[in-house]
Amino acid sequence: MSNNCELRAIAIYGFPIAHSLSPVMHNAGFKELGVNYTYLPFRVHPADLKDAITAIKALDFKGANITVPHKEEALDLLDEVTEDAFIIGAVNTIDNVGGRLVGYNTDCRGFVLALKEAGVTRLNKQKAVILGAGGASKAACVGLLREQVKRLVIANRTLRKAELIRDNFKKSFPRAKISVCPLRPEELGSEFEDCGLLVNTTSVGMNNDCLNLPLDSLNKDALVYDMVYNPPKTKLLKRAEKLGLKTQNGLDMLLYQGVLGFEIWTKRTAPAAVMKEALYKAAYTK
Ligand code: ATR
Repeated sequence: MSNNCELRAIAIYGFPIAHSLSPVMHNAGFKELGVNYTYLPFRVHPADLKDAITAIKALDFKGANITVPHKEEALDLLDEVTEDAFIIGAVNTIDNVGGRLVGYNTDCRGFVLALKEAGVTRLNKQKAVILGAGGASKAACVGLLREQVKRLVIANRTLRKAELIRDNFKKSFPRAKISVCPLRPEELGSEFEDCGLLVNTTSVGMNNDCLNLPLDSLNKDALVYDMVYNPPKTKLLKRAEKLGLKTQNGLDMLLYQGVLGFEIWTKRTAPAAVMKEALYKAAYTK
């Protein structure tokens, strides 16, 4: 960190926050480009989120990232939000544009960039099955819908939540083919048959659990994507690998949502390779 008085801060607000890998990733990128920004984590209690957002202006931070559990609440505390953030109902990136706070959701496009890095092409020819109907699922779904995915199936334990998302997205993407499915092997089996992309957005996998999924019904060239990145290979990814399917965990999504945020704040091309190296080192070196 330099002593330059022009140094500007970018914050990340979460609760908890100590585990966040974003400071390492962004500070590596700022150093690489020699830009006068520093990225700082703040543990913000939900009751203090409004004050913390106001502080972005008061302290003239260049921007912020917003993480769990604040992404939804932050949406209503900003001066402006992008269409993606509005549709998803959550903000993960804030840019302070001369005292005006603009909210973005870079998770959604970050997810698509991670898929592309994993070799997924021509999403408009793919049927995707998304497991889960929380915030992460909504970001992934909007990313896929923006890429004009051929068909989108939202599978969730609580079917009603998937139905609400479907109904909401149909208003923004009237021509998209979106359906829902209970998170049960019997129903998923037939949905998997012509599916080229399976995405787990539930937290199942973090604690070494595994959803009961009929993976052998998937297309042989399907990609199984798990947003969980710790452990790096969940039971779901290990099972998929054994079946010869392509697999990818969620760390590149974290990278690319950060790359996009970096570019919003600095208006420069992010040094993605440097940020990736720092991120992977922080995530997987004990
Ligand atoms: P996030 O914002 O990270 O997506 P969330 O909004 O809490 O987190 O959503 C968690 C998702 O994981 C939900 O879809 C949840 O299913 P329900 O809607 O039925 O609660 C899903 N989930 C969590 N634990 C699960 C489990 N043990 N089995 C199946 N789905 C689970």
